[in-house]
Amino acid sequence: MARKLVITSGKGGVGKTTICANLGSRLAHTKNKVCVLDVDIGLNNLDVVMGIEQNIVYDIIDCIEGRCRLKQALIQDKNEPYLYILPSTQSLHSSKITKNQIKSVVDELSSIFDYILIDCPAGIDLGFHRAVFSASEAIVVTTPHISAIKDASKVVDILSTYELFSYKLVINRARGDLMAGNEMLSVTDISNLFDIELIGVIPEDDNISLALNKGEAINPASLAGKAFVQLADNIRYNTNKIYNYQKDYRGILGYIKRKIKRNI
Ligand SMILES: Nc1ncnc2c1ncn2[C@@H]1O[C@H](COP(=O)(O)OP(=O)(O)OP(=O)(O)O)[C@@H](O)[C@H]1O
Ligand SMILES: [Mg+2]
Repeated sequence: MARKLVITSGKGGVGKTTICANLGSRLAHTKNKVCVLDVDIGLNNLDVVMGIEQNIVYDIIDCIEGRCRLKQALIQDKNEPYLYILPSTQSLHSSKITKNQIKSVVDELSSIFDYILIDCPAGIDLGFHRAVFSASEAIVVTTPHISAIKDASKVVDILSTYELFSYKLVINRARGDLMAGNEMLSVTDISNLFDIELIGVIPEDDNISLALNKGEAINPASLAGKAFVQLADNIRYNTNKIYNYQKDYRGILGYIKRKIKRNI
């Protein structure tokens, strides 16, 4: 039986798809069989982030409507042989798809994989419920910005009405320099606003956009890459180790680094 994790946020554009793709890649790198599943139906882009959009023959809707078997729709990742993607569709008529139909796909995948990561659409309407209904665990993503924090809090309230085994927090786009200078809410401040466990902090990192342009996962040696390695370990071992991104920006040297970064 797979662990089924939905990556959700409420607010759009906070990094759900980025986290789904990179976390999937890291979990697969340690030889866990991982399927990333895009249920952002109609506005999907997990296929683009993972650079497989040219390889799509069948998608999740073809599976649901019986035009193919599930295994025919799965696409193996270019770099991680243990990672597979089940693509979504751009087709608008697919809004009729129900949460039970998505759940039956996820349940079938569950016998093949160790982890299923479900990329949830933004918002808290039908698409959100379709994605969460199939999951047994949730990762709530926020950025350090108030609007994202508010929406993530609403999502946490809604998740508490589901019978999920756990739901945990990831802070994305953290800026160690701004946090150290008290110009952005700190990781501790944000974490204290939530009742749920913090299991990851992903820093703002240009390498994410560079990797996205190549349709690849981020280099694990980069700053955000190391954060994804740690996040994957936290998920595998149920730990909550967080790298302190502010430490490089503390003290006199840190102050100088902050000033230089602001002026670039
Ligand atoms: N840590 C980061 N550092 C720099 N850029 C990032 C980071 N995380 C995400 N991004 C960028 O932010 C943009 C939005 O990310 P993404 O598409 O993953 O968000 P999303 O929550 O899935 O959006 P949507 O709600 O529209 O599905 C992308 O261009 C991505 O490259
Ligand atoms: Mg997305």
